[in-house]
Amino acid sequence: MTEQLSQILAPYHGQKGILIPVLQKVQEELGYLPEEAVSEVAHFVGVSESEVYGVASFYAQFRFERQGEHTIKVCQGTACHVRGGRRILEAVERELGIQPGETTEDYKFSLETVACFGSCALAPVMVVDKTVCGRMTTARARKMLAEY
Ligand code: FES
Repeated sequence: MTEQLSQILAPYHGQKGILIPVLQKVQEELGYLPEEAVSEVAHFVGVSESEVYGVASFYAQFRFERQGEHTIKVCQGTACHVRGGRRILEAVERELGIQPGETTEDYKFSLETVACFGSCALAPVMVVDKTVCGRMTTARARKMLAEY
């Protein structure tokens, strides 16, 4: 990974105030911020690892755990809740064998819940990677997961 990290960091050589852009780039390339990357970034930027963790943990966008190839987000906001969002979530949990915040053992799927996607008219809503799937049913959710 060190070689890959060196390539990611190279364009930032000699620049200042780059911690967040560097972390964003590393996460974009690796999908998350592994310990080794945090250590390399800290060394590269000239701050301690705990400072890097402190900054990265402040922002919800940064992850320290490897994510699945696909991210499934199931809305649990009010509009989705009253239209069966909970049942959709339970069906996905059963199908994947994981809870929100977890990733399947084969790193195929990560599951998250969201408070509202802003697509309430399409409730209940599930988002697979960047595809918004409205008016979900448990059968459609299972079918979609099987297609992946
Ligand atoms: S409550 Fe689910 S999209 Fe708004």
